[in-house]
Formats: sequence, C-alpha cells, structure tokens
Amino acid sequence: MSKKLRVALLFGGNSSEHDVSKRSAHNIYDAMDKDKYDVSLFMFTKDGILLNNEDSQRIFDGELEDEVVKDAYQKMDLTKPLAPIMALNELSGIDFFYPVIHGNLGEDGTVQGLFKLLNKPYVGSNIAASALSFDKDLTKKMLNEAGIRNTPYVLLTPENQADYPWDRLEEDLGDLIFIKPAKQGSSVGIHRVTNAEEYAAALKDAFKYDFKVLAEQGVDHPQEVEISILGNEHPIASKLGAVRVPKGDPFYDYENKFVDASGVVFELPVKLPQYLTDEITDMALKAYKVLDMKGLARIDFLVDSNNVPYLSEPNTLPGFTNISLYPQMWEVSGISYSDLIDRLIQLGLDEFKRNSQIKYDFRELGQERVGQKKYNK
Ligand SMILES: Nc1ncnc2c1ncn2[C@@H]1O[C@H](COP(=O)(O)OP(=O)(O)O)[C@@H](O)[C@H]1O
Ligand SMILES: [Mg+2]
Repeated sequence: MSKKLRVALLFGGNSSEHDVSKRSAHNIYDAMDKDKYDVSLFMFTKDGILLNNEDSQRIFDGELEDEVVKDAYQKMDLTKPLAPIMALNELSGIDFFYPVIHGNLGEDGTVQGLFKLLNKPYVGSNIAASALSFDKDLTKKMLNEAGIRNTPYVLLTPENQADYPWDRLEEDLGDLIFIKPAKQGSSVGIHRVTNAEEYAAALKDAFKYDFKVLAEQGVDHPQEVEISILGNEHPIASKLGAVRVPKGDPFYDYENKFVDASGVVFELPVKLPQYLTDEITDMALKAYKVLDMKGLARIDFLVDSNNVPYLSEPNTLPGFTNISLYPQMWEVSGISYSDLIDRLIQLGLDEFKRNSQIKYDFRELGQERVGQKKYNK
C-alpha cells in the first residue's frame, strides 16, 4: 500500500468568517478519504495566532474555543517574538496544506507565503494571485486592463478624499454609490449611499478597515449571480447560481450573510437567457486567467435590469459548508463534494510539480558570460 498523503487542514482565522471556516473545515474533513489522506488540523485563533495540532483538534472536536485558546495562550508565552507562529515546527511533517481560511490570512496571500517558505504544495492560488484578488482596487485595475466589464469607481484615500465631495462623485458615478474598504469581505464596512450625509458616514466607517476605500457606481437592485471555477491552466466553469436577498433589503449585507440568512434564497442552478450565461462564463474564465488564479475560485457578478453583467469580485477560498454555493454549484454540475476535494488536492500537487520544473542556482548565473570566465581564472 502506498503511503498516505499527510494533509494539514488550516482553518479559523481573524476575520468575521472564522466560524464559517470552522464549518467548512468540518465538512471537508468528513468528506476526505481517510484511506488516502492522513489529516491533521491547525487553527488560527481570532487573534490570528496559529495553535498547535493538539489544541486545534480539541476545538475541532467541540471543546469550548475560548477556553482552549485561553489555556493555549498561557502555555505559549505570547511575549516571545515568534509566539504567533510557534506551532510552525509541527508543520514540518506535513506533505500538503489545505487552507480553509476565508478573508484575512487565507485569501490575501499570507498563508501562501508560509507554504512557499516551507516549500510544500497546497490548495488554491499563489501569493500574488491571492493578494490581487483580495484587493478590490487591484482586482479592478487588472479587470480594466483586460477589458472585463466591472462597475466604474474612484479610489479614495485619507490623502485624496477631500477632493471627492458628494457632488463630484455624483457627477462622475451617479447617485447610487457603494462605499467599500478595498481589502475586506463579508460585506463588512460596505454601505449603499445616495446622498452627502450617508456618504460622509459611510466613508468614516469604511476607513476603519482600510486606508484604501472604493466609491463604486451602484447597480440598482441587481441580480447577484455566482459561478464556480476549477482548474489550473485549463480551468472549467460550473453552472450558475443566484442569491436573492429579501425584497426591500438594501443589498446582500452582513446581516443577510451572518445574522439572519433565513430570508436569503439560493437558486441553483439559475435559469438565465443563454447569451447571458455564456457571457458570464466567458468573463469568469477570462478573469481567472488574468488574475492568474489556480485551483479554485468563486466569481460573483451583478446583473442589471438590462441583463448586462458586471464582474463584482473573485473569491479564492470560498465557503465550503454544506450550504455554500461553491461546492453546491459543482454538485449540480456533476462533481460531488468528495470528488471536488480530491481534484483540488491533485491540482495543488500538479501546480507544485509544474513550478518545480523551474529550477536554477542563482550562484551559477552569469558563469557562462564572456569576461566572467576571465575574472574567475
Ligand atoms: N456596485 C454595486 N452595486 C450594487 N450592489 C453592490 C455593489 N457593490 C457591492 N454590492 C452589494 O454588496 C455586497 C457585497 O459586496 P462585495 O463587493 O461582494 O464585498 P464582499 O467582499 O464583502 O462580499 C454584494 O453582494 C452586493 O449585494
Ligand atoms: Mg461578495
């Protein structure tokens, strides 16, 4: 019998999706074939501190998180400079990393940097693709460069915000504007604004989360359509899904996502005119390449009343709970949850192998140059 692949599931994290990540990790763990994978668990606390396998496992098995974390912090001596990543040495026995951390740390390139240092394969996009896709300003710049339709916007910073009073924004972008921090998720810090007063309050709040804030042209009561992408150099796209928020709600906000999701309806697959389905699929696959994403992504769209789709945002590590859209869109497209996990791990191994082909020793660079040889003699 061949040796099992030792896989570490990383979950938790310091974002509002900490608990979603725990649920995603449970589902992934349960669906993983234990004859193929030897699975261990590592949790990032809500402070962004990496717990060791034993404490992570206790939390995973249902012990009260706050208590286990308190104990763990006492053992760790957080005054030590490397305390936040003390569990790192336990990662040395791992063959493969599966990050299930949404938002900060997971989707912004941070843990991908750790995997790169450890020189190990992992699920999903690399440092640069993750960081780009997590920053709504940089994503839009890439999409614009590639001619992929997205809503016009202005980038606001503490330095330039005085140049953009409401009247100017209204003239440039119209009177329905979304204010959002560049690097957040879960609709945190996002506001739908229609006048100077709302704008001022929204800006104040958004700047709590980031020094970069987008003022984005609003799509009035859009259809929110999502699509799942899977693959490396030759990605495939799932059928489309739609999210419908309760009538009268301003948008798919934090409340609808995490506080009371009972009124939110998912339509899977959603029936749209063929031309619109094709256009969204093309835009998503094109964006996946432009942003250099690997493994997986869920790409979200806003569709206006004339059926014009705008690419809203990519998510490089989307939710994986049993009600999450990413795996469900594959389910209705013919790929089961456990098959999906096998494929994601295989894609991570493939990507690592591909990158290993680029090998050189920088110390040998230039040795062949004329003149260099002379010097070396
Ligand atoms: N330009 C826009 N027009 C209309 N609705 C928007 C716009 N931007 C964001 N929204 C609403 O806000 C929600 C969250 O925005 P999004 O950019 O997806 O941020 P997050 O990363 O927090 O999910 C969207 O799902 C949508 O309901
Ligand atoms: Mg979103």
